[in-house]
Amino acid sequence: MKKKLGILISGRGSNFEAIASSIRAGKLNAEIAVVISNRADAGGLDIARELGLPAIVLPSKGVSREDYDARMVEELQKHGLDLVCLAGFMRLLSPVFIRAFEGRILNIHPSLLPAFPGLDGQAQALSHGARISGCTVHFVNEDLDAGPIVMQAAVMVEDGDTVDVLSERILKAEHRVYSLAIELVLSGNYRIEGRRVIRSASHPLK
Ligand code: GRF
Repeated sequence: MKKKLGILISGRGSNFEAIASSIRAGKLNAEIAVVISNRADAGGLDIARELGLPAIVLPSKGVSREDYDARMVEELQKHGLDLVCLAGFMRLLSPVFIRAFEGRILNIHPSLLPAFPGLDGQAQALSHGARISGCTVHFVNEDLDAGPIVMQAAVMVEDGDTVDVLSERILKAEHRVYSLAIELVLSGNYRIEGRRVIRSASHPLK
């Protein structure tokens, strides 16, 4: 049986789209069981609908974090998910959510963590003068952008870069690396030692 992914978005959904493309191209053996957005105007919802995937809006405005997360857990649990992938989901998750999917939540962040966590990782790297930045796929735990790192990809920061140019370069790397990280986690060919995610020898490095 194919492993099932739940995707959480808040915006344009290009990482979600890249995951869907990897699946369609037969590069990632999984299916997207549900896409949930906390914003009705998220562009990613249109992509989901075009692809014929179940797309659900759960508005978060005015709802407490715990109530919202409990609602989301309930929705996600209907689909028997193997993995929850945050793809530009702009809300912190409470322990209610983390515990329901312990060790089965991934996020992608636009910097080489632990450098530049939080908002605007690309702008932080640029203004700090970093010469190399990139993206990180990590497990989500209760600390912001701090769970064990599954995969990273680096890009150069060029002298003429603006935030938009650098973000675009990082985004290309994100689109490549997220599916690879999902593949690794779904395969189960890794173990976690302390903060380290260590691949089994059988899992090829791509
Ligand atoms: C990406 O830069 C991702 O790293 C960050 O939010 C952005 C989402 O972009 N977490 P998209 O919605 O996937 O296009």
